[in-house]
Amino acid sequence: MGQQNAYVEALRWHIDHGYDDLLALEAVDASTLNPAIKKLQDMPEPAPATAQADARAPAMNATSGGATATPALSASLSNADLIAEATALAAKAETLDDLKTAIADFDGLSVKKTATQMVFADGNPDAKVMLVGEAPGADEDRMGKPFVGVSGQLLDHMLGFIGIDRASDNPENSIYISNILNWRPPGNRTPTPEEMSICLPFIEKHIQLVKPDILLLTGGVAAKTLLSSTDSISRLRGKWHDYTPQTHETQNDVKTDIKALATYHPSYLLRTPAQKKLVWNDLLRVKQALKSD
Ligand code: URA
Repeated sequence: MGQQNAYVEALRWHIDHGYDDLLALEAVDASTLNPAIKKLQDMPEPAPATAQADARAPAMNATSGGATATPALSASLSNADLIAEATALAAKAETLDDLKTAIADFDGLSVKKTATQMVFADGNPDAKVMLVGEAPGADEDRMGKPFVGVSGQLLDHMLGFIGIDRASDNPENSIYISNILNWRPPGNRTPTPEEMSICLPFIEKHIQLVKPDILLLTGGVAAKTLLSSTDSISRLRGKWHDYTPQTHETQNDVKTDIKALATYHPSYLLRTPAQKKLVWNDLLRVKQALKSD
């Protein structure tokens, strides 16, 4: 009897977490989705925490400059100066440790002052898949690792269904995880466009040092920043993009054949579980791409 209850509990837990959706996933073609799901597919992600955050796309290269609006710690440096400084620091990094030190030493972002600690990365740097999220939240700020809170747990479960485990030593079934911003924005607000543009050289160098085959971009901030797009995440998700670095492109060893797939952020899925179906589909695309590699 006790064992039967345990089975029922386990089944209920899986259903609560949307795993029954997975069973319906095989060969779902977007054009065959019923109108209700199609409508969901077109629904935007929730509004960013600040009106300013979505007001315009981030400045996308070191020379594009931009407003001095938010983040400078040094009042004398413009946004363009800070982007140039971040680009120069990132360019010098030859290893992940170098890059970690360069980011830790960079004083151009006010979030560094308000965060508990820097959150650099987690997982296997040899993995074929690199995931980029938005910014650390409270749990990540406390633990110093990305995606370790509730949304991280959902992410780990969903990745588990395509056989990916961030703790695996095997590059074929592991993942490397980082964020656009390495410090928690106060109150978990959305990173501002200025912050995204200043962090771009760091995350792009991070990608170049890891050299993944596949980039999985979770949420609008990561997708828009790294795909240099003003399109909504609902437009960007669900299809493969050729990832084109916007900084460091003159360096010799730039990997240019990285495929990027954007998908919804797990924290959005916690609030809007019906969208899990679409993310399951996206993850199956990743699994298929890994198989055909
Ligand atoms: N959300 C993110 O985008 N990144 C994290 O590391 C945690 C939550």
